[in-house]
Amino acid sequence: MTAAETAVAALPAHPRFLSLEGGEGAGKTTVLKALRAELEAGGDEVVCTREPGGSPLAEMIRALLLDPAHEPPTAETELLLMFASRAQHVAETVRPALERGAWVVSDRFTDSSYAYQGGGRGLDPAFIAELERRVVGLRPGLTLLLDLGVDQGRARARGRDLFDPDASGSGPDRIEREHDAFFERVRDAFLARAAAEPARFRVLDATQPAEAVAAAAVAALRAWRDGA
Ligand code: TYD
Repeated sequence: MTAAETAVAALPAHPRFLSLEGGEGAGKTTVLKALRAELEAGGDEVVCTREPGGSPLAEMIRALLLDPAHEPPTAETELLLMFASRAQHVAETVRPALERGAWVVSDRFTDSSYAYQGGGRGLDPAFIAELERRVVGLRPGLTLLLDLGVDQGRARARGRDLFDPDASGSGPDRIEREHDAFFERVRDAFLARAAAEPARFRVLDATQPAEAVAAAAVAALRAWRDGA
């Protein structure tokens, strides 16, 4: 292991911090609702949040990131804006919630930067690791990766946009407009991260109907809490 890898491996994983990851159309929304219900049933406070975004300023950075209207950001600009949003999200939302004993469930977190900006855009993972160490400083205790083929994910995302005008707004966002090869690299990067960190990741088959994926996610959460 290099010195940088050792430093990153030593990032503290918080036991009440969960993240959900996956490509487009993997059904994260249904899973998020099921996880919230499961954790709230235990009587604890649960903060559900998302990235990019998750605080007022971070949501403004999200709007910049996903807007197709301006010139496309360079890969580095995209990465740094993701981390600018994340730094604010961690300071304003994630850490305060964890410190008061709440659960935090984040729809995407740093693994998305390794997958999209690292795998998808080809940026150096060592650079991302350095940002993670300096700017984020913590990892989820459990990360659920909803895995799904690119074609199926696209078909689902299109269906969602057609039937849920709130989700679509003005059509696909800037990143959703990427080509299939980009999303294949994203998927491969997520799966490689899951294979490298089996203690933190659980990979769920997201080809099933959303309710079945949600049930599998709740089962994975219970098994993890029971120390399985
Ligand atoms: P969102 O609408 O939340 O997408 P999805 O429904 O697929 O989760 O938009 C977030 C987009 O930002 C999504 O395409 C993934 C991308 N993203 C990155 O590229 N890097 C990151 O670090 C994060 C957090 C998200």
